[in-house]
Amino acid sequence: MKGHIITLNLVLFLFFTLNAQRHNIIPAPVSFVQTDAVFLLDGPLMLNASPEIKETVGLMRQKLAANGLYISEDQKAKKSLNIEMVKKEALGSEGYQLKVDNKNITIIASESGGVFNGLQTLLQLTSGSTVGGNIQGCEITDYPRFKWRGLMLDVSRHFFTVDEVKQYIDKMSEYKFNTFHWHLTDDEGWRVEIKSLPKLTEVGAWRVERAGKFGEDRAFPLPGEKPTYGGFYTQEQIKDVVAYAAARNITIVPEVDVPGHSMAALAAYPELSTKKEPKFVNPGSKFAEWYGNGKFEMLIENTLNPADEKVYEFMDKVMGELAMLFPGKYIHMGGDESYKGFWEKSKDVQAFMKKNNIKDAHELQSYFVKRVEKIVSSKGKTLIGWDEILEGGLADGAAVMSWRGLKGGIEAAKMGHEVVMSPTTYAYIDYTQGDPSVENPIYASLSLEKTYEFEPLPEGVDPKYILGGQGNLWSEMIPSLPFAFYMTYPRAMAISEAVWSQKKDRDWNSFVRRVMFHFDEFDEDNIAISKAVYEPIITVYKEDLNLIVKLENNIPDSEIRYTIDNTYPVSFGNTYSAPFKVPEGLLSLRTQTFLNGKSIGRSLIIPRSELVKRVVARNKNCFPGSKNAFYVVLNSVIYSGRMLE
Ligand code: ACM
Repeated sequence: MKGHIITLNLVLFLFFTLNAQRHNIIPAPVSFVQTDAVFLLDGPLMLNASPEIKETVGLMRQKLAANGLYISEDQKAKKSLNIEMVKKEALGSEGYQLKVDNKNITIIASESGGVFNGLQTLLQLTSGSTVGGNIQGCEITDYPRFKWRGLMLDVSRHFFTVDEVKQYIDKMSEYKFNTFHWHLTDDEGWRVEIKSLPKLTEVGAWRVERAGKFGEDRAFPLPGEKPTYGGFYTQEQIKDVVAYAAARNITIVPEVDVPGHSMAALAAYPELSTKKEPKFVNPGSKFAEWYGNGKFEMLIENTLNPADEKVYEFMDKVMGELAMLFPGKYIHMGGDESYKGFWEKSKDVQAFMKKNNIKDAHELQSYFVKRVEKIVSSKGKTLIGWDEILEGGLADGAAVMSWRGLKGGIEAAKMGHEVVMSPTTYAYIDYTQGDPSVENPIYASLSLEKTYEFEPLPEGVDPKYILGGQGNLWSEMIPSLPFAFYMTYPRAMAISEAVWSQKKDRDWNSFVRRVMFHFDEFDEDNIAISKAVYEPIITVYKEDLNLIVKLENNIPDSEIRYTIDNTYPVSFGNTYSAPFKVPEGLLSLRTQTFLNGKSIGRSLIIPRSELVKRVVARNKNCFPGSKNAFYVVLNSVIYSGRMLE
């Protein structure tokens, strides 16, 4: 027995020496000090807390027990979890202190949100920073950098059940997000019951079922075809989800996307459009032309008519019921990508503009936004919208969610408006995560590395206007909750660190080491998330007449092996050290990352012809004189954009 104790002590000593100040917590806490105490997970803990806080602990009871922390009412339990509510200004409403010693775990916080966050950290300690299955001693002080730490889930393009939404919220609470932006309406479905406008859900929540690629090959509804796909949340269900989120320190911001993205609403009430034509809820069929650079044309009217007083009566009813359902400060009105073409063609709208001295369609959109802002503020709420609400003049008091880069957010903050940064470039977690050869193609690609560079506070902007940041999961290509998790994580971990942790502590190597630990946790919970970060980032370019491949790997201590002679397994191949030439021929590049001699991530296999296409795409503009085609000369072959299509 004694021998065992000596051995354990030796192991602990070595562990502490080798891992001084290491932890696996995401988002990284403000301060983490490791001590030499060890809290053995060998028996129940007595909970010392007020009855209200006991309820908060109760939410986590099962998860804590699964990690060896059994909360008990037994007064004779030798150990305790003590939760003390003490007003400490430095901690704010969401911060906490957590101390783990040999016998006690103590959480100190000013408010229940802080207790909840402290418990999340404790949970990560029990699964993360253990010593032989026990918790290493530590003292943590922690509080968030930003007050808006959000994730958005689009439930219109695909419907997620109440239970699925709760699972999504529960997981985000583990990473200390505090805002769930619920994108409740779009062209593909209206998902929130509005009692005074029953057709919104009777009609607007249902569409015909289609497989195929969203916005490309999905057929329009056939005459008389029954809409069978969809669903909506009753007001009772909404209240239930709101309470579920609140218990997890999460406020819900509902979004009703107007005046554009309103085809589902118009399927229910076509009289709210300029043409008043009957509509269907879009099953994901292509009804717009996207020309790039933010330019587009809607082939079917999906905008409300801003010149019609009935539209404002409609908005008043919708916002009135939303304000009753959602206790948070903000209501999101969307405002993005609203097509102005039907307004410009409508005689009534043109007459309205003339009468009201509105000079163009942007000013007309601004008129609409200002009217909606008045409605929202009359319900005691603050309006927030996508950055298009800046166009033509921003409504007083409106907050802006900046998605087309940081520019709109900077402009709004400089005008003294509140801003949430949510740029496509760092925070669009519907974009693919890895190499195009192994991902389901979506609009663009966004690696974990790039997401980790997200900085919500641009230089020169007064921090008081930047509420925080948010990741957005649009669900055009996300048909299920498992895939929603796959796309959300681990990039949401990077976003959580951008909005919670101190900027000075940003450190990719530390982050990715902790992410790898969290991968194991997700594996244990049977939740598949993307491990694309293990795979090399492949860059192809032309040098002289050669096709060159560069492989980048951001996993410390790992190596990439590759072959370009059609041999496999890749473990026999070369270890990558510098960019290399790919010879001519019917060859494929094969890559595989290895860590400690074991393969990690997917094996990539990319035919040379695909690599060439990537070079051509990169070099599109290299012969500006050629109107219809572009050329890249590699080895003895001339490749043109056309030839390769
Ligand atoms: C957006 O992505 N259209 C806000």
